[in-house]
Amino acid sequence: MTTITLDRYADVREAFRTHDLRQSLYDAGGVVMADCLLVLHGQEHKLRRRVENRLFRRGTFRHWEKEFLHDLVRESITPFVEAGKGDLVEIGYRTVMNLTAMVAGLDRKSDDPAETDALYRFAKKFSEGATLVHSTRDHEEVRAEVRAAMKEFDEQFLQPSRARREALIAKVEAGELDEDELPRDVLTALLRNREELGITDDIIRRECAFYLQAGSHSTANALTHTAHDWFTWSKDHPEATPEPELIQRCVYESLRLHPASPVAQRRAMAPITLRSGIEIPEGATVVMDLHAANRDETVFERPLEYDPLREVPEDVPRWGHAFGGGMHACIGTELAGGVPSTAEGERVLGTVTLMLTALLKAGARPDPNDPPQLDPHSAREHFARYPVVFEKQ
Ligand code: HEM
Repeated sequence: MTTITLDRYADVREAFRTHDLRQSLYDAGGVVMADCLLVLHGQEHKLRRRVENRLFRRGTFRHWEKEFLHDLVRESITPFVEAGKGDLVEIGYRTVMNLTAMVAGLDRKSDDPAETDALYRFAKKFSEGATLVHSTRDHEEVRAEVRAAMKEFDEQFLQPSRARREALIAKVEAGELDEDELPRDVLTALLRNREELGITDDIIRRECAFYLQAGSHSTANALTHTAHDWFTWSKDHPEATPEPELIQRCVYESLRLHPASPVAQRRAMAPITLRSGIEIPEGATVVMDLHAANRDETVFERPLEYDPLREVPEDVPRWGHAFGGGMHACIGTELAGGVPSTAEGERVLGTVTLMLTALLKAGARPDPNDPPQLDPHSAREHFARYPVVFEKQ
């Protein structure tokens, strides 16, 4: 089987937008990913994306940020700040867990931290299942663990959340409740449109599990990388203060250098010739090396250098391809990364910036006695631990 690797910015951009290339990165991760938005193609993808997109309309996250995201971040980090130390991986997950559960449509019964821990455990397991292609562990063993986690997740979170939503939808159908009063989340949207989408209970379960891990893993991962890069860079830039605007630039620069998904992968459904002349035969696997393309010197000056203040060409986002592109472009870009608009009042900071700004304000710095460690079980560049201490300056 032919494999073609694209590592130039323009080739990857074009490949993302080429209809005859279909998702193939998650073929091994079917235990979580089968029939999920990210693996659908063509009309099926278009239909599902249209239904789910409604939740992610422009302005929704600006509203969330104004209303409750600052408080949610503060509440999540306070126990760690009070303890004087914590692990950034855990802090990141805990903070985004509640948020992604909300987006997916998984109700919490209480504020009990044990519930957050359970969601965190499920998200980690689902993420391991989804990215099985990169796992160095025994694949069958991981699949069995994911199936067991899926069952627990279903009983503990999905079934009660679903029952509540089905009762509300029944009220809407009986004319007793206004459509606008339904929860705005993925689960409600899927239940409300299940006939049009032609989806089964298993698909609904996997889609919610997929959202739980897609939203949390990448965001938590972006937090550790951005924090690490900031700690390193700010040592040489003592004049820099962690204002949200600068931290947002740092988030984008860290995403460029350490995209949560270092590669995207597609299969060619027809022969394709890219504008650069690269020929892709039908059936070939196309590996889009986002890590390399984000370091393309024809697009980014001094590409290996971490420079949050860099200039980038007008049609190139600061994060390069970190949020993907084309039909599968990340639906959560605005929630995680915000909107880098310069117009006054237009800016949305995004959860990674909100989290890091709050942590730095609380005096977070790497624990001098406990260095960070990369995950030994993944070929992806993820921190498994990132101990920090909180010291008020
Ligand atoms: C820093 C954080 C994030 C990064 C770096 C990221 C990255 C990505 C990338 C690269 C893709 C495209 C993959 C491909 O084309 O194969 C993607 C798709 C997706 N992301 Fe994100 N993501 C982030 C946060 C989120 C959040 C917060 C959510 C939801 C709550 C989310 C939900 C999704 C979904 C549903 C898709 C599939 C879209 C589709 O297939 O149409 N992501 N993400």
